[in-house]
Amino acid sequence: MTPLRAAAEAARERAYAPFSGFRVGAALESEDGTIFAGCNVENASYGLTICAERSAVVSAVSAGHRRFRRLVLVSDAVAPITPCGACRQVLAEFAPDLPVESCAGNDVRTWTIRELLPAGFTADVLP
Ligand code: THU
Repeated sequence: MTPLRAAAEAARERAYAPFSGFRVGAALESEDGTIFAGCNVENASYGLTICAERSAVVSAVSAGHRRFRRLVLVSDAVAPITPCGACRQVLAEFAPDLPVESCAGNDVRTWTIRELLPAGFTADVLP
C-alpha cells in the first residue's frame, strides 16, 4: 500500500461520523511530498458537516501548502466514491488538474478534478 493510501485509510479511522455512520478518509500529497490527511467531521446541525477532502485541503493550506500532486480517497462504500460537488469546487481552487484516486479494496478509479468539475466557476472571472 502506498503511503498516501495508508494515510487516507488511517484518516478514515478517525472520521467523526455518528450521524451517517459513513467514514471517509482523504490524503493529499503536496508538491514537496508532504502528506495532509483529512476525515469527515459531522455535526448535529447536519449541514455543517465537513467532508474528508475539504478537511485535507484546509489542513494543507493552513500549513502553507497550495500546490498538490494527487489525492487519495477511501470510504466505507463497497465501490470507489467521487468527491461531492462542494469538495470538487474547493479542490479546483488550488489544483484543477489534480488526479483523484478513489479506492475500495482493489477497485481503484482515477479522475482529474477538471473531469469531475467541467466548466467550473473560477477566480479568473472575478473583477
Ligand atoms: N463525505 C465525505 O467526507 N466525502 C465525500 O466525498 C462524500 C461524502 C461524507 C459527508 C458525510 O459525513 C458522509 O460522508 C455521508 O454523506
